[in-house]
Amino acid sequence: MDQNYIDKQAKQGKVIVVIKKLVYDLTEFKTRHPGGFKILEKYNGYDATRQFEVLVRHSQKAQEMMKEFVIDSFQDRKQKVTWEFIRSNEEKLYVVIENNLYDCTEFVDNHPGGKEILELYKNQNATEAFKQLGHSKEAREKMNLYKIGELEHKKAEGNSQKWLLFLIGVVVAYIYKSFFH
Ligand code: HEM
Ligand code: HEM
Repeated sequence: MDQNYIDKQAKQGKVIVVIKKLVYDLTEFKTRHPGGFKILEKYNGYDATRQFEVLVRHSQKAQEMMKEFVIDSFQDRKQKVTWEFIRSNEEKLYVVIENNLYDCTEFVDNHPGGKEILELYKNQNATEAFKQLGHSKEAREKMNLYKIGELEHKKAEGNSQKWLLFLIGVVVAYIYKSFFH
């Protein structure tokens, strides 16, 4: 199961979370959850491992209960991909960040930083902009779930234009913030 599928389910009103690489459907359970349904809705579509284990220490009983809600496993995507592969998939919105390939096709409309900036980096290396524009821990956790592969070579070919793209990205982010916030 991949993140795009999870996003689709979440949009249809389901409550899906990932904990330790297992996918849970908590739609039916949410109103019975002793911690309340609000927190589950907050993490809908996210990897909630840290919250489940660290922020709240769930009891042994809770860990037994959760087994019945597992619907799939979530695999780390380590398959090697090339720039040719990325560019030949024009219908997809991929971005490369630090040698990892992310599929943002479904996520783009919900990106809190705006659709425009992700489209600007469509099928490009967005490493610099991603790092400089700042993303929270939650954003990084969510991002892990969109990973679909790793670039074959350490020296990503897309690096050549990364600074120019970064500058354009800063301008787009600034315009987005000024007009839409
Ligand atoms: C995966 C299925 C889950 C099950 C079966 C479950 C079950 C439970 C249970 C039985 C409790 C009562 C305390 C205990 O026995 O540990 C509880 C409390 C709580 N849970 Fe969950 N939980 C789940 C997922 C989550 C997630 C994903 C979050 C947060 C992202 C969360 C946040 C909380 C909070 C905030 C409390 C209240 C703790 C308190 O009041 O001290 N739970 N949960
Ligand atoms: C899988 C990839 C990505 C995910 C999951 C993601 C997620 C998020 C999230 C959750 C936020 C809200 C703020 C936060 O929690 O930190 C955000 C804000 C933002 N993102 Fe992304 N993002 C991704 C990729 C990118 C890329 C590639 C760029 C640009 C190159 C970008 C630019 C921004 C900007 C400009 C903001 C607004 C920051 C602000 O309001 O201060 N994001 N993103």
